Amino acid sequence: MTMQPWFTEAKLGILVHWGIYAVDGVPESWSFFGGDLTRDAYMRQLDGFTASRYRPDGWALLFRRAGAKYAVLTAKHHDGVALWDTRRSDLSVAGRSPAARDLVGPFAEAVRRQGLRVGLYFSHSDWSHPDYPSVRPSSLHRPWVDNRYAMPAPGQEDPDRWERFLEGVHRGQIRELQDLYRPDLLWFDGAWERDERQWRMRELREEILRRRPETVLNGRMLGHGDYATPELGVPIIRPEGPWELCYTIGDAWGYQPGDVHPKSVRELVRVFAETIGHGGNLLLNTGPKEDGTIPADHADRLEGLGGWIRRNREAVEGTVAGLPYGHHYGPSLISEDRRTLFLVCFDTPRFFTELRGLRNAVKTASVLGTGEALGHRGVGGFPSRGVPGVVRIDAPVLRDPYATVIALELDGEIDLYRGAGEG
Ligand code: GLC
Repeated sequence: MTMQPWFTEAKLGILVHWGIYAVDGVPESWSFFGGDLTRDAYMRQLDGFTASRYRPDGWALLFRRAGAKYAVLTAKHHDGVALWDTRRSDLSVAGRSPAARDLVGPFAEAVRRQGLRVGLYFSHSDWSHPDYPSVRPSSLHRPWVDNRYAMPAPGQEDPDRWERFLEGVHRGQIRELQDLYRPDLLWFDGAWERDERQWRMRELREEILRRRPETVLNGRMLGHGDYATPELGVPIIRPEGPWELCYTIGDAWGYQPGDVHPKSVRELVRVFAETIGHGGNLLLNTGPKEDGTIPADHADRLEGLGGWIRRNREAVEGTVAGLPYGHHYGPSLISEDRRTLFLVCFDTPRFFTELRGLRNAVKTASVLGTGEALGHRGVGGFPSRGVPGVVRIDAPVLRDPYATVIALELDGEIDLYRGAGEG
């Protein structure tokens, strides 16, 4: 699998959970699956979904200002409600809500106009289609998946209905999305209720790539995606290969009026730096209201993150994953030519910042954003045995409000000492 370079270079994407669940502000899909609401009550939200203030150009501009290079919209969540005028089911906001139009096309166009890549979220599972709960997986690795919206009772299986769903709805809708909107990224979810064999994921992958070979596929394809998709927590160990952390600005994915404690810009900068320092992308989620407006406190956070990225652009754009743990207390990034090292300092460096295990000489040390030059010196070590000392870099006078980045220009390509107990 060769990864499209735009994806690994992107570093920041925005995920948008928008659907009828924003009308009453209930959890997306899960609220009726879990029985908090009947499915009828959940679906009555269709009547209140207006998209009356939907300005996708405004969204796309905000996402670009946040520093994002791609944006992903929930074309269809587990509730089965399509945001486009699908011909493959009668459940769409185009056909059944006052919004009465395609919402995906204008999103894709607006996002492209801002120079960003287009991603579409699509749930494999569909808890509304009558043919979906027709077969059971070979094993229920999570007991709560045994639910009437997801599968029939044992002994009531009907493989013909499953085939009808798979070909007619699942494949049919993915083809519609590809043909109508040419997404650069298909962001799947909800594969856990069937086996790989039942979904025929390998074939799905092949079919998508036949239609558009450059399409990137997220990891939720039971082994047939392009990259790992951890959710809500920065991995402790650096994942191998490309990866992307999906993460909420608030507590929920979709809009919920009680979700009023969004993470601060400082927290978001931290999680972003930790993610990219380990070579991943951050896919940061917001949930617009039913009318299509992005909550103001989420927009503020996105602007704040974008400001930090602009001040520290050199460390973000065109850099690769930084040092493994142990050299610097915080994330770091390395320039593509491997001659500049960027140290991210979250907590105010008061006296000095320390860097261990660097064999190179440091030519200059400076602060991104302000350009302030910093004094630095090597201390200790056992140079005749090739054991470097510690580099001590003076604390800057002016610090970034969220995270200060120190750029170190090295005398050559970075050369790390990882020795333990030698000499
Ligand atoms: C989970 C949830 C879903 C949400 C998704 C985002 O898989 O099922 O509600 O859309 O995470 O990653």
